[in-house]
Amino acid sequence: MNIVVLISGNGSNLQAIIDACADGRIQGQVKAVVSSNPTAYGLERATQAGIPSYWISRKQKTYEQELLDCFAQMQPDLIVLAGYLGILSRELVQAYQGKIINIHPSLIPKYCGKGYYGIKVHQAVIAGREKESGATVHFVDQGIDTGQIIIQRAIPVLAKDSPQTLADRVLAVEHQILIEAIQAIEKQLCLPE
Ligand code: GRF
Repeated sequence: MNIVVLISGNGSNLQAIIDACADGRIQGQVKAVVSSNPTAYGLERATQAGIPSYWISRKQKTYEQELLDCFAQMQPDLIVLAGYLGILSRELVQAYQGKIINIHPSLIPKYCGKGYYGIKVHQAVIAGREKESGATVHFVDQGIDTGQIIIQRAIPVLAKDSPQTLADRVLAVEHQILIEAIQAIEKQLCLPE
């Protein structure tokens, strides 16, 4: 399975995919990493793994076309948004409908959508006095964090949790369920509706 991963930051979810491909838990390879942020550490992770990596600024007028050109060249069977902060156009999502998945650090449909990303999610969960949180992997459709859910896993919110301690525990769950979701897709156990 040819995988292209889109990132914007640290790339720990990307690293989880790279490691799973290397040890055979995923029968596939990461063909390219595309970042919306030129200083994303995930680009360094790609380089260390010998994976072609690109920075495409979302400010560029040709941004979408550059993404499409990259995808046309890499022929991805799966596109993974892993900590990616950009929003893909309707046209691009349409062109790759059913082949794009996203990892989100909450139990969708709670704490998702516009403005809910990174630490903001966990701040809202704690402010909401939730007893549990977790992570979700879903297919990307035309909305923000609204596509068909593939897998989600809950963890308790601890009384002593800060947004950061919760984020760290949720991130560990993300790394697990992202690989499980890709394995399910690979085995055709989970197909887009
Ligand atoms: C994480 O908080 C994750 O929930 C979200 O993006 C953030 C960075 O993840 N998807 P990563 O370490 O860049 O994969």
